[in-house]
Amino acid sequence: MRKIIILGSTGSVGKAAFDFISKNKKDFEVVCLVASSNEKVINKQAEKYVNCKTYLENPKKANYSKKSLTKDKLLELIASNKVDTVIAAISGSKGLDLIHHSISCGKRVLIANKEPLVMAGEFLINETQKSGAEIIPIDSEHCAIHQIIKGRDLDSISKIILTCSGGPFHSLSRNKFKVITKKQALNHPVWKMGSKITIDSSTLMNKALEIIEAKFLFEIEHKKIEAIIHPESLIHSFVEFDDGTILASMAEPDMKIPISYGLSYPKTKKNGLKKIDMTQLKELTFKKIDRIKFPSIDFAYFAIEKGKGMPIFLNAANEVAVNHFLKDNIQFLDIYRLISVVLEYADKNNIKLSSVSLESIQDFNKEAIKISNHISEQLIK
Ligand SMILES: NC(=O)c1ccc[n+]([C@@H]2O[C@H](COP(=O)([O-])OP(=O)(O)OC[C@H]3O[C@@H](n4cnc5c(N)ncnc54)[C@H](OP(=O)(O)O)[C@@H]3O)[C@@H](O)[C@H]2O)c1
Repeated sequence: MRKIIILGSTGSVGKAAFDFISKNKKDFEVVCLVASSNEKVINKQAEKYVNCKTYLENPKKANYSKKSLTKDKLLELIASNKVDTVIAAISGSKGLDLIHHSISCGKRVLIANKEPLVMAGEFLINETQKSGAEIIPIDSEHCAIHQIIKGRDLDSISKIILTCSGGPFHSLSRNKFKVITKKQALNHPVWKMGSKITIDSSTLMNKALEIIEAKFLFEIEHKKIEAIIHPESLIHSFVEFDDGTILASMAEPDMKIPISYGLSYPKTKKNGLKKIDMTQLKELTFKKIDRIKFPSIDFAYFAIEKGKGMPIFLNAANEVAVNHFLKDNIQFLDIYRLISVVLEYADKNNIKLSSVSLESIQDFNKEAIKISNHISEQLIK
């Protein structure tokens, strides 16, 4: 019986994980649920498990539930033998401290929440090696790669090719980008996701973050990581090996499939989810990403090459930009403008992460957010 905590249980990935687990109660038990402020959903979820605790980071009222824990008690619970698996599905950089704590406590951590890996990937992987924790990516592309490279000689990988749907705008001409509305950007053609990642998918910043995520997770040189558009979203990534073989991993675009993989690993269990019927497939198409239209991909390589905290700046600038876009403070193209100006500022002013610890990464992130907010205020004027 796996004993599970879901971080971000009220969000898109968290709900998918909760539903999947609740349909497989003989193998899994939810021992704690974590969210920001959504009392209604978290309380309803917690009712399904007698011993399930809850934690809200920003509750609207204290003691919102008899089952609620304080932060200290939550950290204690994660560290205890009452928990063996943590599903990390908080959105954005806010997920970093609980992912770090879960890793330090030697747990199996199923990570959907990519931003902490972008900010602190190398550090988190080192912590995993020290504590004996296990990271299993459930971001669908990285989960696909995890499956493909299992048991392979990693030195023989010549390329990792991340696929992406291309979002709603991959066929739109660049001159129409300036009139893209929030409603259009939130209308993802394939996935139903939280608003932050949906905007990231429309700008292809999601793919930029995933390039950095892949570099850290698989400890592979960034020059060997590419991304291509695959609108059908059935192949979740490719790995090319030195002998010319390319392996792909296919599945329906449903987050419950990587969640099922991560929970059952190293076994593969029946999960009752929809399978691809190859005889019904009409076509599988692929196209190059237009890097003029989508500068996000170049931002990712720039941040990796600069290193020393530049991925933290990239992530912070993007979080600030998406937040403003969702509040209608800036236009779609301003997202790229803001990120570009912030990266240039950090580079020109030689702002670097000098030491690597959770505290120093968090402090550096606060500084990056402050600078991004400052630059965005000038952009909004
Ligand atoms: N959605 C997908 O299909 C998908 C696929 C691959 C990867 N991912 C990644 O998975 C992560 C989650 O995405 P999502 O689409 O599920 O996001 P989402 O729907 O916006 O859900 C975010 C969850 O995080 C919680 N949360 C936010 N701030 C928190 C805080 N400070 N402390 C504790 N909980 C907090 C929210 O709680 P409240 O409800 O109370 O606000 C909610 O439960 C992201 O990093 C995303 O990039 C998502």
